[in-house]
Amino acid sequence: MNRKRVLSGVQPTGSLHIGNWLGAIKNWVSLQNEYETFVCVVDLHAITVPHNPKELAENTLKTAAIYLACGMDPKSCSIFIQSQVTSHAELCWLLNCVTPLNWMERMIQFKEKAIKQGDNVSIGLLDYPVLMAADILLYESDLVPVGEDQKQHLELARNIAQQRINSKFGTNGKDILKVPEALIIREGAKIMSLIDGTKKMSKSDPNDTSRIGILDSPDLVMKKIKKAKTDSQIGLEFGNKDRPEANNLLTIYSLVTNIGTDRALEECSDMGWGKFKPLLGEAIINALEPIQNKYYELRKDNIALKNILKQGNIKAQEVSELTLAKVKKALGFIENI
Ligand code: ADP
Ligand code: TRP
Repeated sequence: MNRKRVLSGVQPTGSLHIGNWLGAIKNWVSLQNEYETFVCVVDLHAITVPHNPKELAENTLKTAAIYLACGMDPKSCSIFIQSQVTSHAELCWLLNCVTPLNWMERMIQFKEKAIKQGDNVSIGLLDYPVLMAADILLYESDLVPVGEDQKQHLELARNIAQQRINSKFGTNGKDILKVPEALIIREGAKIMSLIDGTKKMSKSDPNDTSRIGILDSPDLVMKKIKKAKTDSQIGLEFGNKDRPEANNLLTIYSLVTNIGTDRALEECSDMGWGKFKPLLGEAIINALEPIQNKYYELRKDNIALKNILKQGNIKAQEVSELTLAKVKKALGFIENI
């Protein structure tokens, strides 16, 4: 029997942070042995806001190397570059033509990002979720592991597949596209900013001290943790709505140490911030150390890295072409001549 499929991706914009790791990449790593896993660097998504062409290629390789350094194993999964698998842009066009414009205008991330762009909003930014739907649907993915913020995009992909393709173009009750499920692991699904516990940690926050980069040096990690916002209460706790910073930092502690929430609470519930912060800083540094070592090792040999990606691209092209052909046939396009 064929294994169920997983697909996910991260944009090669800026530097990946521990929110990307704990909310997304860490989950991929644990799924890759059980599922047929595809992970891509979504570089076409990265140009939906103004970008620097001098940095795109390097950021793409960097992001792929981080996937590997975090534990993605090319023997167990396919790692590929979105822009090098032509089916993505092609299916996106087909889906564009069946997706109502008002579905797109409701997307929260679009509205948030559009505000930041002022009057420089591209059609690509509006179309971003349709391209993401194409990414997912091309691989007949069963599960899509993402952070909480991507839930609405996943719902859109499901609606496009079900309501706009399967029910309109399916014949004899047969579905054309598989309807995927989101996989949002509760713990880590939303790591918050270090300077405001009510805002998501994000690559696009202009303040670098708001996040811990996966590649931040130990000194920098400690400095950022020491500067992180706190409150005037003693003792760490989970779930107190009036103490978002305590909840966030204790969550990070429990995740990077892998000790679970009960033990983290037991250990830290009476601790003051002065004692907790160095403990948390050390724990993050220890968790990042093996990832950083592996990352710098991988970056010594870009040819080997590109070879891994080439294998991933070939596999992704093979699988995605089959779905693309199915959709084109259902929409009535002439067969390849
Ligand atoms: P960012 O929002 O930092 O630009 P992306 O949009 O590229 O990051 O997100 C890549 C993946 O990381 C997605 O699956 C997203 O849900 C997840 N992710 C991003 N930020 C966080 C966060 N603060 N906490 C948990 N997961 C996150
Ligand atoms: N939109 C996602 C994000 O910002 C990235 C992404 C693009 C993605 N295509 C995807 C995630 C397909 C999962 C599956 O995080």
